[in-house]
Amino acid sequence: MEIISFHDSDRQQHWLQEIKRSDWGPGALLHRLLSEDKFYEAVGQGSRVLMLTDGDELVSYCTYARWDDIQPTELTPWMGFIYTFPEHRGHRYAGLLMAEVVRLAKAEGMSVVYISTNHVGLYEKYGCEFLAMMNDMEGTPSRVYVKKIMMENDRILLRPWHDSDAQSLFKYASEPDVGYRAGWPPHKSVEESHEIIRTVFNNDTTWAIELKETGEAIGAIGYGPGCDCNLPVREDEPITGYWVAKPYWNLGICTEALQLMINYIRKTTDIPSIISGHFIDNPASGRVMEKCGFIATGETCIDENQYKGQGRPIRVLRLEFN
Ligand SMILES: CC(C)(COP(=O)(O)OP(=O)(O)OC[C@H]1O[C@@H](n2cnc3c(N)ncnc32)[C@H](O)[C@@H]1OP(=O)(O)O)[C@@H](O)C(=O)NCCC(=O)NCCS
Repeated sequence: MEIISFHDSDRQQHWLQEIKRSDWGPGALLHRLLSEDKFYEAVGQGSRVLMLTDGDELVSYCTYARWDDIQPTELTPWMGFIYTFPEHRGHRYAGLLMAEVVRLAKAEGMSVVYISTNHVGLYEKYGCEFLAMMNDMEGTPSRVYVKKIMMENDRILLRPWHDSDAQSLFKYASEPDVGYRAGWPPHKSVEESHEIIRTVFNNDTTWAIELKETGEAIGAIGYGPGCDCNLPVREDEPITGYWVAKPYWNLGICTEALQLMINYIRKTTDIPSIISGHFIDNPASGRVMEKCGFIATGETCIDENQYKGQGRPIRVLRLEFN
């Protein structure tokens, strides 16, 4: 299955027929807006119709839009017109579309996405929180949910990395004591830091740790599939990693960042566990994990793929979510 955008497709007539198949009032409205070329006028320029497709078949669709039916409002952006064909329900396909919406919103620097609905219970499953009752353009009250993309507490914000963070990243990641502990070589130039932002950090589950007081990125945290590492991962079990700039060590910042990310994983996924490890000569990292509920598995491993990993045992810890 793949997610495609209606307006990028060269088979718009076919997809219009597919949208028409949905036996659903808002689906008929979407079909009309698209056929009459009034979609952008109704929901704003830059809005999209995302379609989860299986070959020629439309499985599920939604919009990612500037506005929805809650109007007038300053709130933006919105996920709307969310529909899965009855024969495909129960497979969390709406969740795949939501992940794509979150990816788009993140790329635009948005910190939240709003959803207007009358369902109770559905969007909670996808980590959305009820915000308020608001009126739609006909004056009918509707439940408005919010999906938070960035996580924050009083002191820090976990947000996507931006190109403009390259200078700060270089300043802090060129410090040899940081990379040596985390298993990667110190950055050698701002260009290299820039490249890392555009590649390694450019995904949905890696965040900059921003210190709110200064607006500066002072660390990184993320989770994802363990590729070339020797940790004893279970099938599909993600690995987490993090670092904090040396001037900010031992202030509790990493513990707060890890706790925010754990809360986010709990709310937005059904991942059963997450694994990590730290060089035994870097006990501070183990302490951070323990403070967030990770438990040592009793295993150690050597990982020569890590920078200076030769002969340095890694202590393995795991967090079970259930
Ligand atoms: C590990 C790291 C992320 C911790 O960040 P941080 O913001 O300083 O972490 P916190 O302040 O939340 O917690 C650090 C804990 O380690 C403890 N600690 C520090 N040095 C320690 C040491 N030598 N031995 C044991 N505990 C130590 C601190 O006392 C604190 O625990 P406490 O709150 O119980 O007192 C940071 O040191 C770092 O970036 N190191 C380099 C990169 C790295 O190691 N990444 C992890 C790779 S696995």
